[in-house]
Amino acid sequence: MAQAKRVALITGAASGIGEAAATVFAQRGYQVVGLDLVKRSATASRPPSIVESGVAWRQCDVSVERQVKRVVGEVVGRFGRIDVLVNNAGLVLTKPLTQTLWGEYDRLFGVNVGGQFLMCKYAIPAMRKSKGGAIVNMASVSGHVGSVNNVLYCGTKGAVLALTKALALELAEDRIRVNSISPGYIDTPMLSNDLASQAKLTGVTLDEVVARETAGQLFRRFASPIEVAEAIFFLAGDAASFITGTDLIVDCGCVAK
Ligand SMILES: NC(=O)c1ccc[n+]([C@@H]2O[C@H](COP(=O)([O-])OP(=O)(O)OC[C@H]3O[C@@H](n4cnc5c(N)ncnc54)[C@H](O)[C@@H]3O)[C@@H](O)[C@H]2O)c1
Repeated sequence: MAQAKRVALITGAASGIGEAAATVFAQRGYQVVGLDLVKRSATASRPPSIVESGVAWRQCDVSVERQVKRVVGEVVGRFGRIDVLVNNAGLVLTKPLTQTLWGEYDRLFGVNVGGQFLMCKYAIPAMRKSKGGAIVNMASVSGHVGSVNNVLYCGTKGAVLALTKALALELAEDRIRVNSISPGYIDTPMLSNDLASQAKLTGVTLDEVVARETAGQLFRRFASPIEVAEAIFFLAGDAASFITGTDLIVDCGCVAK
């Protein structure tokens, strides 16, 4: 009998890094289930492979417990298992702290941290049944170094780093590995929005901000989402079988500087 495909659940899969990860996992033999606020990517940049690769889609706000519970239950019912959870869905908030509203704080932490908590809470029982699995949480260089106008975003990513380490200890007995990835500047709609907000706040043009930030990269370019997807795939797979409780920085030396 043919072995059942491994199942990878990827949040925020309709855009950017999540979309690239869905493509990579699907092309390499996983049954991928992509979760997002929107059903699937509306972006023109969507790689055609994602359409042809059999990625299943579910609409889900990862910060709403009843939605997460229902969708994870549906996935287990339909595919029978969860082997990999990629907690990628996230938001950025580019604002000085004193201008930030409580509701914005609540939403940012609710999605960036709460969403990872809820997805783990409901996916872990299925991984335990399969006697193992891998969780990859999306952190950021913003969890390692501070940046102006991103205080709360940095706070959420610092929380992801700590959550990842603690959960790795909690799940070691279950043979579930838990790691995080910290991307630097990745060319996605989120980065474009962040840079546009920085331009507005600092009174310079978007072109100037892009030129300044690009010049600040050691390789003088931003990364493609695929370059992060490859790191996610590595951490989720058997090649990383002895790696748990750590963070892989994919930032072209931003933190090293
Ligand atoms: N782009 C970068 O430079 C960069 C750098 C470091 C970390 N990151 C992190 O990588 C992850 C992906 O970012 P990206 O750049 O691909 O962003 P993106 O905006 O292109 O994609 C994020 C996706 O998450 C989805 N999403 C947002 N809130 C959601 C929710 N509540 N429930 C379900 N889906 C939701 C969005 O609809 C979107 O499709 C984020 O966690 C982000 O913080 C990005």
